[in-house]
Amino acid sequence: MEKLSFSFDYTVYDSVDELDETRKKLIEKAVEAGHKAYAPYSSFHVGAAVLLESGKMISGSNQENASYPVGICAERTLLSFVHANHPEDKKTILAVSVLDTDSAASPCGLCRQTIIEYENVQKQSIEILLHNRSGSVLSIPSGSALLPLHFDSESLS
Ligand code: THU
Repeated sequence: MEKLSFSFDYTVYDSVDELDETRKKLIEKAVEAGHKAYAPYSSFHVGAAVLLESGKMISGSNQENASYPVGICAERTLLSFVHANHPEDKKTILAVSVLDTDSAASPCGLCRQTIIEYENVQKQSIEILLHNRSGSVLSIPSGSALLPLHFDSESLS
């Protein structure tokens, strides 16, 4: 028998002003996208923006549906679009901003699984910045840090 444990380091910033210009800009894009969220059912507006290796910044927001389970989180709306249109351009930093709460919101399980899929395909971690109405920001080193013992393509072989 062997007992193992899992932990990861992350950083908490009290304000976006503590971030470098690139990260600040990415969060601004996520906030802008959050204002365009289609969230008539939850009124919970989430924006996401990704920085690609080429320098492009692309954003998206949550898209809800009268049939509630059909709704898609901001992270997956964005990552599906980005991978469909720029599959070779690595995703380096993903910023997520929740407009309607002061507490840190973290990606749901489906979004964590999605982030990990793209980390695996590009063989590179995606830094995740979590921003909320209070202005604080968490920087998490990767999607896989958020989903220990996850299922991925290797699990299938
Ligand atoms: N939501 C996101 O877009 N991203 C998250 O990280 C958490 C939740 C959305 C889904 C739904 O439209 C609304 O927020 C309430 O759950």
